[in-house]
Amino acid sequence: MCGIVGYIGNKNAYPIIINGLKRLEYRGYDSAGFIVNAGKFVHTKTKGKVSDLEEKASEEASQSIESCYGMGHTRWATHGVPNNVNSHPHLSNSGKIAIVHNGIIENYLSIKRRLQQEGFTFHSDTDTEVLVNFIEFLKDKEQVPLETAVRYALNEVIGAYAIAVMEEANPTKMVVARLGSPLVVGIGEGEFFIASDASPFIEYTQNALYLEDGEMAVIKLNQPIDVRKIHNNEEVTPSVQELKLSLDAIEKGGYEHFMIKEIFEQPQSIQDTMRGRLLEDFSTKLSGIENNLKQFLSAERIIIVACGTSWHAGQVGEYLLEELARIPVEVEYASEFRYRNPVIHPGDIVIAISQSGETADTLAALKLAKEKGAFIYGICNVVGSSIARLTDSGTYTHAGPEIGVASTKAFTTQLTVLTLLALHLGYRKGTLDHHSYKKLCQQLSHIPELVAQTLEMTKDKVIEIAQEYKDVNNCIYLGRGLNFPVALEGALKLKEISYIHAEGYPAAEMKHGPIALIDENMPVVFLAPSKGHYEKVVSNAQEIKARKGKIIAIVTQGDKQMTDIADHSLEIPEVDELFSPILSVIPLQLLSYHIAIMRGCNVDQPRNLAKSVTVE
Ligand code: F6R
Repeated sequence: MCGIVGYIGNKNAYPIIINGLKRLEYRGYDSAGFIVNAGKFVHTKTKGKVSDLEEKASEEASQSIESCYGMGHTRWATHGVPNNVNSHPHLSNSGKIAIVHNGIIENYLSIKRRLQQEGFTFHSDTDTEVLVNFIEFLKDKEQVPLETAVRYALNEVIGAYAIAVMEEANPTKMVVARLGSPLVVGIGEGEFFIASDASPFIEYTQNALYLEDGEMAVIKLNQPIDVRKIHNNEEVTPSVQELKLSLDAIEKGGYEHFMIKEIFEQPQSIQDTMRGRLLEDFSTKLSGIENNLKQFLSAERIIIVACGTSWHAGQVGEYLLEELARIPVEVEYASEFRYRNPVIHPGDIVIAISQSGETADTLAALKLAKEKGAFIYGICNVVGSSIARLTDSGTYTHAGPEIGVASTKAFTTQLTVLTLLALHLGYRKGTLDHHSYKKLCQQLSHIPELVAQTLEMTKDKVIEIAQEYKDVNNCIYLGRGLNFPVALEGALKLKEISYIHAEGYPAAEMKHGPIALIDENMPVVFLAPSKGHYEKVVSNAQEIKARKGKIIAIVTQGDKQMTDIADHSLEIPEVDELFSPILSVIPLQLLSYHIAIMRGCNVDQPRNLAKSVTVE
């Protein structure tokens, strides 16, 4: 979490930093700051959003912020509450060294005590202020250049970081390093950009160098970048890649919020996910599987690790893979898996699902599985992300940048990849016969247009329903089979952006306790598509109705039984049960969005959240 951006070149750095911070705001938005070197350091920081920072900077315009060198930060607090003092950048005691940091320094307290004994004083509650003073202490003590002091300091630090460090006396130099948090250097003509992802610089350069974990780089104006290993100072040959990112993809394109734009992008993003993988002859092509076919065919077990929405996609994946490929699947929260000494056999396949590819717990779970000899497969959206690079093989979702903090198109494209995977493996293993394989592939090819129809069929009615329920305090989501994880996802969407307490349950579990919550004030959203466990879900709905609960049902077009019981119903097109989660989640995304908007919530940047959870 936290976004960092920096510039060394011949343009005015301030607008580049501010625009870059706005694009990185999805990573954290409780405070922001920047520093430029205009002969001397000039910095401004504040609690609040990047727009608050801009306002504060214009109020303080007496100081010149014209400079070609600088860096900025948008924060998601870890150590210390969000306030002006805890915001980044942080300066060393002399005021001569400045840092921006994304991550956590776990041993900051012991370093802080050591520095206090040396006479250093601290103004904030942050671990970052400790790190910048530690760098200053080592630089002065050892009489070494900034980059050496940074390296010495990082070799004593335990934790995760992406940092950028500047010193007042050397404006055209910046030292950057990463371990566990992302950092990319954009290399333009006579200029360098640094950022947590490439979005701040794509209109200036498409040449990017992604630092690997444990690497640092010294960036100097008009000189080649110098990349080294932090632990031994060994030189690393920089590997610069050409990005294919467009500016359109990271802008709102006429929509009011990124979330609604991303909801409506789903027909296209699913199509993009299937491109080259679902062929015109209704067969699947997954090179990530084909290149490791022996491994997949002999796998006795698949373990899926993920967090949040990606974990919900993994739960749907369990149903799909077990049904079609008959391989036992376990779905684990990455944060639990990594700390419980899991039993992993060398023949196991561990699949990580992650939109950002940077989630700290998922990354750590993968590293553990790799150490234990498992084959690692990734389903990531962000190309070149840490998880994608760690895996033995994988499939990108190609959903395009997802900027709204609440995940929408990432979820449906993850489901698409998991469906392709299950179909491909099932066919290759012979657990899915030729006829069924072809039939399912053919149906899958229609999913983008069915998603478009679902949006069209539900988008207006959802607004009426949202109007009626916008003031509730609680909500329950129920589903069975493949639609049970969709119930969990619907509840997560509602709570994270509207702050309404919501829970998802398997429909039949209600009578084991939660049904006690039902009264005339409790809305219950039922996932009740016609295929699957429809009759059972209808019975569960009767139980809710008998206790005066209010029922909102997601049903198949033309449904009668459930529609009669429900207070409101939202119809989705008819589809094979296996594909129904991709459609049934759409009205739930829309419902959460509209309820949150009606409650005056910031849907793209909900409170306390960040898009990329790079701390555990
Ligand atoms: C919810 C949401 C989160 C993420 C979770 C994992 O809308 O976005 O629950 O799904 O933080 O993130 P990734 O997929 O980037 O690993």
